[in-house]
Amino acid sequence: MIFESSVNQCKIFDRSNITQVIDLLSQRLIPFKDTAGGSTWLTWTNSSITFFGLGFVLGIIATNYAKYFTPTDRFGPGRRKKDTKTNNDENGMKTMPGSGSHNFGIDNRKIYSRDGKNHQVLEGAISLFSRNFSVKYRQHSFKQKDGGVDAYRKVVTYLSPEDMLQTLFFERPKDDCKNSGKFLKQSLHLNHSLGEHEKDQKMIHLFKQIQKYSVDTCHPYFFNQLFGALDPIALSAELIALSVNTSSYTFETAPVFTLIERHVIESLAKIVFGTSAVDDGCKSECYCLNRNKRGERSKLCSSGNYDGLMLPGGSLSNLTAIHLARHYCRLKSPHDKLRNTNNHPSRFESDDENQVQMDEATKSGSSKSTLVAFVSSEAHYSFSKSASVTGIGNENLIIVPTLSNGQMDVCQLDLLMTRVKEESYTRKIPFFVAATAGSTVRGSFDDLEAIARVCRKHEDHLNQGVQNEKMTTKLQHKIWMHVDGAWGGSAIFSSRDDLRQLLKGLNHVDSFTFNPHKMLGAPQQTTAFVTRHKGALKSCNSTKAKYLFDSRKNGAEFDIGDASYTCGRRTDAIKLWALWKYYGSNGLGKKIEAKVDSLALFAQIIEEHEHFMLACEPWPFNVNFFYLPKRIREILKKYNVDIYTKSPVVPTAIEGDLANVSIELKLRLHQSGEMLIPFQPISNQKADCFRLVLAGDKKFDETDIYNILYLMEKHGANL
Ligand SMILES: Cc1ncc(COP(=O)(O)O)c(C=O)c1O
Repeated sequence: MIFESSVNQCKIFDRSNITQVIDLLSQRLIPFKDTAGGSTWLTWTNSSITFFGLGFVLGIIATNYAKYFTPTDRFGPGRRKKDTKTNNDENGMKTMPGSGSHNFGIDNRKIYSRDGKNHQVLEGAISLFSRNFSVKYRQHSFKQKDGGVDAYRKVVTYLSPEDMLQTLFFERPKDDCKNSGKFLKQSLHLNHSLGEHEKDQKMIHLFKQIQKYSVDTCHPYFFNQLFGALDPIALSAELIALSVNTSSYTFETAPVFTLIERHVIESLAKIVFGTSAVDDGCKSECYCLNRNKRGERSKLCSSGNYDGLMLPGGSLSNLTAIHLARHYCRLKSPHDKLRNTNNHPSRFESDDENQVQMDEATKSGSSKSTLVAFVSSEAHYSFSKSASVTGIGNENLIIVPTLSNGQMDVCQLDLLMTRVKEESYTRKIPFFVAATAGSTVRGSFDDLEAIARVCRKHEDHLNQGVQNEKMTTKLQHKIWMHVDGAWGGSAIFSSRDDLRQLLKGLNHVDSFTFNPHKMLGAPQQTTAFVTRHKGALKSCNSTKAKYLFDSRKNGAEFDIGDASYTCGRRTDAIKLWALWKYYGSNGLGKKIEAKVDSLALFAQIIEEHEHFMLACEPWPFNVNFFYLPKRIREILKKYNVDIYTKSPVVPTAIEGDLANVSIELKLRLHQSGEMLIPFQPISNQKADCFRLVLAGDKKFDETDIYNILYLMEKHGANL
């Protein structure tokens, strides 16, 4: 048995130079502090630095609440209680005494609400939050036990749906819970009133229950999805965003966040499209889409040939790409059937509010022509939903087959486009191709350069086909190329050749999206979308709702919300900004590279291990593999299957059996709560196999690899 006893801490809170930053911040941001006595849940001491990153952030949040909720009868209206133990800075803010003590927080007083009520529920919730990230709680050790090992902390406390309902939603009669704990009778059921007696404690208890039975996606052995293992910096940023709870649509409402978002998008555009896209030489223009209240453009920054926004998830980013591509087509395609005479072709390029007047017919999506989109069979399912939502229709979403390695078969793309074009004189027009940079299951990266070449070829042909004297040079049909990098797109931060190679040609595409909430460990959801087409989003989405977007307001030229199809917008940019600022492009790149190296080692061990078998040639971010219990090994032997190859051929007769092993083993692991790992079929391999990915801020080394194999053996040997 491969086993090594280990203590694997999910190092959520690395100690580093952030200590000094906390000192500075706490001096500024903790306005009152009674140094006598420790705070209940925000105490910082050198000996128990358990959650300092969060501690300081929670301190800020708590302070915000405390500032607003401190009852006036305690400190007098508009005045802060004089505190002899703290100093005042020149702004009258309290500064923290003795930076070495790191004793900060809202102190041992309770948070009080405006009406003087103790804010126990909030306090309790913050305490539950902090506990979840304390080193003690995060400690994940494997202990020898009866000749085996057991995970000290579980990914999930598994209950079947029936048991979960029974445990959490069942309303027990009062006398049924005499010996079962103080608040156990409390249920999540909404018919079950909390009553007034100890209401706050009951509420906290319910929160605790919710937390207890939820999946711990920060657990080192949570591999189920492409997210998890929160990065402490990004999490801190989320808390700061939460502490101000605003909406990132107008400068007026979110002055810092709107500027951060613009800056993050600009920085991303620079990486994706190159510096020339950002600094296009039109120095006289500002990248602000609007004019200020005096009708002037701001001179604060220069314009670039790009556009972008933070969006709520990769799926909606893919939807946005299709939406923009269709919009572009409507405005610019020379095909008579697509053209709307009210749309002047220059409008799309203009960032001038007065020219971005969308025609209702364009927005409604009505068209006599049929637009056809192309994605590979490995592409994310959100494209299918997007085709449906935009009215393109799934019959007009052509699924391009993949090569054996999971990449889009570009020859097939070429052929399929030709076929569609042959029908174009009747009604079909290719307008959109989505490439994937890191597919969900295989982790495959499409060949961006080859796909771009095919797009350009067919685009040229389509443009030639409709040349006539009515056309202006501005009218050009475009086959919009989008790159879905939701999973693998974070590789943009790496300068290593193997990873750069995967994204070769990215600088020529029309749009790109990536999810820092997947690979980089930002809290859900953090998704960035960029396009090389200036003003595209606003042109497509603007409605200029007067009550919100009005140039007479301060800073209106920096409003970004009208470019979005939502009204309220989360302040997600701060999470990407914080990661980028703290680790730098280089640091983020190194994190990505470390994952690639760990997974390469994992793949090598699987390839060489007699009890496991690779399901296909691994890509850098995904390893698909089978577990082979003894019974299956013997069958495979009979069929002469080479289990030590990167792409084994599984005989059809065994596929069902092998799939059942994966399914049953996954269920057992789930129920044990020791590991969550997904199974699924992959192209060219019908039997369901396991997928290992390293999402988020996951520390992962050889010991983890052997522990994973051990857990699979432990639960699957008799299958
Ligand atoms: C390649 C790819 N694109 C898009 C998505 C959807 O992203 P989200 O969950 O943020 O909507 C996923 C999700 O796993 C994905 O793997």
